[in-house]
Amino acid sequence: MKIHETITGLRSALKDAGRVVLVPTMGNLHDGHIALMREAHKYGDTVLVSIFVNRLQFRPGEDFEKYPRTFTADCERLVAAGVDHLFCPVESEMYPTPQRYYVEPPAELINILEGEFRPGHFRGVATVVQKLFNIAQPQVAVFGKKDYQQMLVLSNMAHDLALPIEIIAADTVRAEDGLALSSRNGFLSPQERPEAPRLHRLLEGMRNAILAGERDLAQLERAAMAELQAHGWKPDYIAVRKQSNLQRPSTDDASLVALGAARLGATRLIDNLEI
Ligand code: PAJ
Repeated sequence: MKIHETITGLRSALKDAGRVVLVPTMGNLHDGHIALMREAHKYGDTVLVSIFVNRLQFRPGEDFEKYPRTFTADCERLVAAGVDHLFCPVESEMYPTPQRYYVEPPAELINILEGEFRPGHFRGVATVVQKLFNIAQPQVAVFGKKDYQQMLVLSNMAHDLALPIEIIAADTVRAEDGLALSSRNGFLSPQERPEAPRLHRLLEGMRNAILAGERDLAQLERAAMAELQAHGWKPDYIAVRKQSNLQRPSTDDASLVALGAARLGATRLIDNLEI
């Protein structure tokens, strides 16, 4: 695997790379990330991974400073996954001057769900991803459905701005007990870890109820929030939405997704399930 810290170095290395598939990450890689790398191999000749902890998408008080940085272990995992190139710029390479131009996703997509609780987050994500696209000029980019709203913001961005990039959405990888793999899981205490899959189980319960004909979505959402609270969680939202745009469904809408975010102790977990 070739490691590049500069934009010029990366660009010259990719000159004859054929069809490039980019997998953007912030590092601290787990099996969920590695599954994206495996998926990436199916779509092109060269797999490029980026590791960059993007300050623009963190708000003051979020975990930018304590975001786990595990570069050596990440490199070993990437080599084992057959990744061809790694782009790992320092902050002054990505943001040599304070970023003044931003990609502004549409309000109806970013003022809801994650966006409601993390103002500015998706603007920071869209901006860094657009910048990574400009730097690497990949033909394909892979994102995880684990971050469903992020995946939708970015695939809409590619469509809306006519980017010459195919966006692939990869399935969520879970632990055996159903907990979606996440860098944040490492912050869970040994007591919290067995409780953590409750979020996924609740979303499954909602999916099963809807598939069985339940149409009172607001009641399902309220019941799931109450159950989380009863077990010591602090839920931000539990919501059933349309897969296509994350807006509230009307009664005859198919293709739904149940999404949730909740704090267990100090750790904020998110998950979702397509219906
Ligand atoms: P990060 O949290 O490192 O995630 C990188 C990619 O891995 C994202 O596309 C995310 O959805 C995917 N991913 C994380 N956990 C997963 C799981 N359990 N199963 C499948 N895919 C999973 O998301 C970001 O970084 C950043 O916002 C980024 C897009 C890199 C922009 O800075």
